[in-house]
Amino acid sequence: MALQINPSILSADFSRLADEAKAVEGADWLHVDVMDNHFVPNLTLGVPVVESLGKATDTPLDCHLMIEDPDRWAPQYIEAGAGSVTFHVEAAAAPVRLAREIRAKGARASMALKPATPIEPYEDLLPELDMLLVMTVEPGFGGQAFLDIMLPKIRRTRQLIDKHGLELWLQVDGGVSAATIERCAEAGADVFVAGSAVYGAQDPAKAVAELRHLAEKATTAPGTGDGLVTGR
Ligand code: DX5
Ligand code: ZN
Repeated sequence: MALQINPSILSADFSRLADEAKAVEGADWLHVDVMDNHFVPNLTLGVPVVESLGKATDTPLDCHLMIEDPDRWAPQYIEAGAGSVTFHVEAAAAPVRLAREIRAKGARASMALKPATPIEPYEDLLPELDMLLVMTVEPGFGGQAFLDIMLPKIRRTRQLIDKHGLELWLQVDGGVSAATIERCAEAGADVFVAGSAVYGAQDPAKAVAELRHLAEKATTAPGTGDGLVTGR
């Protein structure tokens, strides 16, 4: 699968969301951070905003639910138009049932791990998922520094995905920028969320293109020109 760049609208101007979505039309997905002030100490937006945003852009929505009780709320985000729904395993009561329900409703099922949550206990769940999100900051806020200590977990997750021969996307979120994206790509991530690095730039579309270029460079074998992925 080609590498994907998902700008996070958490760093956009919330009073101009439709324009901010249009500003990154070269992006693969629009990353929408839903926070409930319980699972994380911040409050953002909910179902009605996702519904309106979905109508305002052709870019598919990648909803990252940082909320308690995702088992109850996730289906509503699919009905609101999300193409991918990510729940946190720390908050889900029944992650397998939830992932199956998300898929049955026609969206991509994704599970997120906070920095202190290991991947190993969830190896057997991976076939139930379309994407695994390794958080590279503590969830809750944009603009935090990338946690390099997450790189080994990204590597181990990539190894598990390859071991099982899965078509599972591996997303990273938090502190991803021109300074850190190559490290993430080398470690095996293939979907990159970037908030401040995109919306803090003069030209958000150009920032997306630059991030894509850096990630592709980091995963293309030097001298072969055949686009082979290395470092996994
Ligand atoms: C943080 C959110 C991120 C956030 C990333 O909890 O999940 O998606 O928008 O922002 P940056 O890229 O600025 O770290
Ligand atoms: Zn996010």
